Amino acid sequence: MKRIDPWDSQAIGDYQNLFNEFGIESFDRFRRYFPDNRYVRRGIIFGHRDFDRIFSAIKNKKPFVMITGLMPSGRFHFGHKMVADQMVWYQSLGAEIFICAADVESWLMRNIPFEKAREIALNEYLKNYIALGLKPEGVTFWFQSNYRKEYYRLRDMASKRITFNEMKAIYGDLTPGKIISVLAQIADIIHPQLPDLGGPRPVVVPVGADQDPHLRLTRDVASRLNAEREEFIDINGRNEGVISKEDESIRDMECVPPSSTYHKFMRGLRGGKMSSSDPSSYLALSETPRDAINKIMSAKTGGRATVDEQREKGGVPENCTIYNLYLYHLVDDDKELEKIYRECKGGERICGECKATCSDMLSEFLHRHQKNLEKAEDIIGEFYKS
Ligand code: TRP
Ligand code: SF4
Repeated sequence: MKRIDPWDSQAIGDYQNLFNEFGIESFDRFRRYFPDNRYVRRGIIFGHRDFDRIFSAIKNKKPFVMITGLMPSGRFHFGHKMVADQMVWYQSLGAEIFICAADVESWLMRNIPFEKAREIALNEYLKNYIALGLKPEGVTFWFQSNYRKEYYRLRDMASKRITFNEMKAIYGDLTPGKIISVLAQIADIIHPQLPDLGGPRPVVVPVGADQDPHLRLTRDVASRLNAEREEFIDINGRNEGVISKEDESIRDMECVPPSSTYHKFMRGLRGGKMSSSDPSSYLALSETPRDAINKIMSAKTGGRATVDEQREKGGVPENCTIYNLYLYHLVDDDKELEKIYRECKGGERICGECKATCSDMLSEFLHRHQKNLEKAEDIIGEFYKS
């Protein structure tokens, strides 16, 4: 059996395989309902599990939750922006937003010290979310290392609903650190349905396909929590009236298995994966326009070896990281994007000029965004009280 490894740095290449092999469903049938969302419209959000639940909550104006987690390991870049845009979008559709700073995972898996993770989570991620439009109302932001008691009880309880063989089948090689990270993520995704956080309601987790193993496992755990009630018994063998408030709330917990959506990853500027650990692969949203332009100028394109050849054969926008930026972020108008595509394919567009155009668009975006970042700084405290 093939596996997806959430901690591997390989980009996922074969999206079709995910439908056949792992049972992710195509997002196509929801596309026409969300013409305002660029990622949906362009098939960048390509798959889902149980999105019908979310769709009907949106349609019927019923409560639902969007939850996501961030690995605080470096600067906030355009790959991360994709998730942030989805947060802002779900918030505009009425979702409560839960955001987890996965500092335990980044410590266990990437050896990032907690202090550094904290700084990055607040001053890179949260600040950028705010600058991109996230509003404080209805947002819960927490650190895996420091949160409410029931959350930890739920993490421990998840371990009782999974076998080791099951985990090995999903993740292959396991380490104790991976096991803890997986259990933490399960609690991240399920805990918004704790009785005192709002109880059972649909939850959507928008992720890259690399996170699907966690989703599959979490959905199983959720069903098992419903099926097998937990008993907490005090030292005298009683279980009524004497167990702690936290245990009681866990015991009474019912939950809707979480839904998920899957997006295709943006390519890095070198053509491979966009990775926080390789600055030449990403564009940060806090990049100075000069650094940004330098990165654009040395980015990999889908152009030909010479201008003559390009005029004759045309470029390959599918393989171009500049086109990738237009597609995901810089060009919202579909007609304009189509024009770029046609001109590139037809050899009318030459990479040098195209990069200059891209640099202009990018500088304009960064200029505007960085003003918003300054303002965002002042309201971080409304999202997270330390
Ligand atoms: N594991 C995720 C990553 O590598 C981060 C994460 C932690 C997360 N908790 C989550 C993602 C809950 C979605 C939902 O980026
Ligand atoms: Fe990419 Fe533009 Fe060159 Fe086409 S013309 S390959 S879109 S940089």
